[in-house]
Amino acid sequence: MKAFWDECYKNEEFAYGTEPNQFFKFQLKKVPEGSKILFPADGEGRNSVYAATQNMNSVAFDISTSGREKAYKLAKTYNVNIDYQVGSFDEIKFEDKSFDGIVFSYTHFPKGVKDSFFQKMMSKLKTNGWIIFECFSVKNIPLREQNPKIGGPLEEELLYTIDELEKLIGKEAKIWEELTELNEGLYHVGKGCVIRAIKGLPNDQ
Ligand SMILES: C[S@@+](CC[C@H](N)C(=O)[O-])C[C@H]1O[C@@H](n2cnc3c(N)ncnc32)[C@H](O)[C@@H]1O
Repeated sequence: MKAFWDECYKNEEFAYGTEPNQFFKFQLKKVPEGSKILFPADGEGRNSVYAATQNMNSVAFDISTSGREKAYKLAKTYNVNIDYQVGSFDEIKFEDKSFDGIVFSYTHFPKGVKDSFFQKMMSKLKTNGWIIFECFSVKNIPLREQNPKIGGPLEEELLYTIDELEKLIGKEAKIWEELTELNEGLYHVGKGCVIRAIKGLPNDQ
């Protein structure tokens, strides 16, 4: 898995672009400056670096070493700092209840792994901490078959449903499914079906 992502990120171009995910960017306006935010599986840093430009304290991790190199390069172009650790979620160490918020952006894992990933990430969130989430829905599969450029997994277990996410992040979250036009770098281009969620933030979309 690490070799796959290192290969994917080794090009000059950014796989998912240098701009933040647009849903995350909109939701971040609701978050006070200085918040300590965790970016699991942050890839090339498009979201953590954007948050740092908005005066947030960005802490990221990912299994990919080339992802971190690209993220630091991006941070340098904006003259901001992020803390980015390389490692798998099951080996990475953060204090429990130490983050104001967590941003899940296209974090796709197999069924068993998904459960332990969320369990661990949720334990790092402060009581009353917030979540911003956007990943592909199981309903993205036919769209991906028609247009491979939209990207996302083809295996159902790697994707999300509203019911499943409710079990992973809690009933209080506002969770919905949306058909959306993505234009994110090389690999998320076209009409996709995503699950979006917010928890602990005002409800307007
Ligand atoms: C689809 S990319 C999303 C990257 C980023 N969140 C974004 O939205 O641009 C999925 C990311 O998951 C990372 N990843 C896969 N397995 C992981 C693991 N066990 N622990 C941490 N990161 C992992 C990959 O290296 C890759 O960067």
